[in-house]
Amino acid sequence: MEITTTDLGLAARVQNLTKTFGAGESGVRALDTVTVGIRRGEFTAIMGPSGSGKSTLMHIMAGLDAPTSGRAWIGDTEITGLSDLELTILRRRRVGFVFQAFNLVPTLDALGNIMLPFDLDGRRPSALEKARIDGLIESLGLSARLRHRPHQLSGGQQQRVAIARALATAPDLVFADEPTGNLDSRSSREVLALLAAASREHGQSIAMVTHDPVAAAYADRVVFLGDGRIVADKPKQTAEQVSAHMLAAEVAA
Ligand SMILES: Nc1ncnc2c1ncn2[C@@H]1O[C@H](COP(=O)(O)OP(=O)(O)O)[C@@H](O)[C@H]1O
Ligand SMILES: [Mg+2]
Repeated sequence: MEITTTDLGLAARVQNLTKTFGAGESGVRALDTVTVGIRRGEFTAIMGPSGSGKSTLMHIMAGLDAPTSGRAWIGDTEITGLSDLELTILRRRRVGFVFQAFNLVPTLDALGNIMLPFDLDGRRPSALEKARIDGLIESLGLSARLRHRPHQLSGGQQQRVAIARALATAPDLVFADEPTGNLDSRSSREVLALLAAASREHGQSIAMVTHDPVAAAYADRVVFLGDGRIVADKPKQTAEQVSAHMLAAEVAA
């Protein structure tokens, strides 16, 4: 196995990533030569105003979309150039997702949704994985909700099911895109605290896209995106610091 110094300690990284949508006059450059690494075991927030390229960056990092130019890795596997099938398998085995709209399967109950990554991969969880999933269900407060279908759950409960599903396989990296965007402030705080705990207590690597300074303040590190470029990369910030930074960026723009 080849180990290079560049990828040690990184759950994912991208190099000179550029993404344009459309062409000519109407073309949009969503990402402009972005280079960044997501460190293992850390909870990283990717912060920026609406339209700054956050979702585009996440989609390319996760192999859901291809860049116009540049390269992307998950761990030490380069994902740019993989086939759709290879990407699907890699995502299934090594990446977890939490979306703003929860994206649960409506016909499956909570437990069915949590177990979906194993079913899709055609395998049963090991005894160790079963024990971890039981612990997750307990700590996410879902024990009494396992037979409920998504429409029978509140938004906060649905998002906790999505988090359990994302963490169930202990993936190399969990991507969360505006995970609190559809939640009230109390459920938002719960969801953010659960993500922070997964990282702090279990070393789960998490990259969370958000435009909310309060959400970014739960992370260990905040990467600021503006107009498709990385404009700052800071260790743990308070919500006030994040807000001040965003305001200053707006004034400068
Ligand atoms: N599929 C697409 N087709 C055309 N333009 C897009 C597409 N996806 C994103 N964009 C544009 O790229 C820019 C960045 O979008 P996005 O990554 O969604 O930003 P954010 O998540 O920070 O709000 C925006 O100008 C957006 O309109
Ligand atoms: Mg977005």
